[in-house]
Amino acid sequence: MYFRICLVLVTIFLRLCVFCDKVSFKNVPVKATNVAKGRLEIGPVTGSLDPSNGLADANEITVRDQKIPILYKGAVKDLPRLYDLELIYSEIQEIEPGAFENVPRLLELKLNGNKISKIQGGILNNLNIKRLDLSFNEINAIEPNAFNDLPNLRVLLLDNNLIREWNPNWFENTPNLLMIHFSKNLLETLPAHAFKNVKGTENVKDGWLPLENYFDFSENKIQTIDPKAFEDIKQLDILDLRRNLISELQPGVFSNLEKVNSIWLLDNKITCVSDEFLDSLPHGHGIARRAYKFDANPWNCTCLEKVQTWSKEKGSKMATLQSSIKCVIEKVKDIK
Ligand SMILES: *[C@@H]1O[C@H](CO)[C@@H](O)[C@H](O)[C@H]1NC(C)=O
Repeated sequence: MYFRICLVLVTIFLRLCVFCDKVSFKNVPVKATNVAKGRLEIGPVTGSLDPSNGLADANEITVRDQKIPILYKGAVKDLPRLYDLELIYSEIQEIEPGAFENVPRLLELKLNGNKISKIQGGILNNLNIKRLDLSFNEINAIEPNAFNDLPNLRVLLLDNNLIREWNPNWFENTPNLLMIHFSKNLLETLPAHAFKNVKGTENVKDGWLPLENYFDFSENKIQTIDPKAFEDIKQLDILDLRRNLISELQPGVFSNLEKVNSIWLLDNKITCVSDEFLDSLPHGHGIARRAYKFDANPWNCTCLEKVQTWSKEKGSKMATLQSSIKCVIEKVKDIK
């Protein structure tokens, strides 16, 4: 009897115990390495990833295929030598603000393949990371300040999520972002001044690859691009808009991109573009790779001929070969 009362009391205590609820890792196998020492012998971790678990010297930590539903505040903390952290394919649903504390050298943070639905402010801000992988999650909400104050962020992977909106106010004090992988989301529109906080390659000098600007918005549901969407960026290597639902391109929409190399608009709903749009395209900077890829669109053949004539006159590479062949075949059919 006495024993049972004790048990009940202990159970109630455990339920009420605040700290007991804050255990992010429960008996989780962790792989950790140090560049000089090689693989570190770490037993399964209960609690958080910190020096008390023998991780003080870890340069790289990987947790994969585990069950970590919530990363509580301080889930990863006080690891001054850590530069690569991978918590992947581990059913993470939620990350609390402050989950990554005092990891000043962290360069790469991989959280791909989880079930994260929301990115709050206070999780990532002020990290020194250069590469952030949030792909293959269930993200449908990103707070406006979620990506602020990431001064070194170069590569952001957000592909394969459920994001419906692009917020032009993202990336305040995150000026070095060069690669945005946003493929396979649910974006319907690119709003005005979409990239007002992203400055491009000019000031990036520390030799950490890659140095290409590559914005990948392929395989979304984009129907409209605001004419001022790209107004604030001058330089872009590749803009990938493949497999969207774009039917109309406003004059001037790309005209501020002084140094764009390639714009891929393959596999959209374009039947025609206006003369004003064509004349507003940046051209003639002599960049070999410069090309506008417009193939696999339901072109009006008359319009396509106009585009090709324009292209020849201006010396711009307008890739429409496949569509042209289709038009030629249709013409031959008509003659028959
Ligand atoms: C194609 O464009 C031409 C010229 O702009 C127009 O006269 C014609 O009706 C269009 N054809 C179709 C099928 O929309």
